[in-house]
Amino acid sequence: MTLRNTDERWSWPSQWLHWSVVVLVVGLATAGLLMTEMPNTPRKIEIYALHKSFGLTVLVLAAIRLAWRLYAGTPAPVPGSPRWQERIASLTHALLYAVLFAMPLTGWLFNSAAGYPLQFFGLFNLPALAGSDEALREAALSLHKAGFWVLLSLVVLHAGAAFYHHLFLGDATLRRMLPGRRPPQA
Ligand code: HEM
Repeated sequence: MTLRNTDERWSWPSQWLHWSVVVLVVGLATAGLLMTEMPNTPRKIEIYALHKSFGLTVLVLAAIRLAWRLYAGTPAPVPGSPRWQERIASLTHALLYAVLFAMPLTGWLFNSAAGYPLQFFGLFNLPALAGSDEALREAALSLHKAGFWVLLSLVVLHAGAAFYHHLFLGDATLRRMLPGRRPPQA
């Protein structure tokens, strides 16, 4: 049994990486949007610390995903897909990868320029990406905020296309990213 992706479907390591990143990003975006409005309590500091640690986890998973994708390949386009749709899908995937790296890195840069220490789940400290710098702090935060809206737009396009294929075209686009024993129909 190969762990690589086949022409017909994504293998379980690719599926696991895909869905764990989905769960983490939804949680991070929700926490990110809510935590800034919280009153200044120890709970807020805990949530910020968790946001940063889970965000760094996404950075690691994005790197593993990219390496795995290069090694394991990708399934062939679903039969019957027009060329222009394949191009848009590829562009969306490339931009999603870019944002999956950009969000954690701009968060880390913001944290560094603000002069805050950075711990990974309380286990070890990470180095600062830059020294304390007010202008850089503001720029990194603006990029972190703007990155969220870019990410949201891409996710709507990406997930919307998957549901459209599943519900209206009835093809294997979504099913081949879901666990299941039987190979999906084309
Ligand atoms: C995929 C990873 C990440 C996602 C999706 C994400 C998402 C978000 C979102 C949606 C916000 C709210 C922005 C707003 O106020 O409009 C936020 C805020 C924040 N994020 Fe992230 N984030 C990620 C990773 C990180 C990392 C790795 C760090 C730090 C190491 C970080 C540090 C922060 C901080 C400090 C804030 C609050 C900024 C403030 O106080 O105004 N984030 N994040």
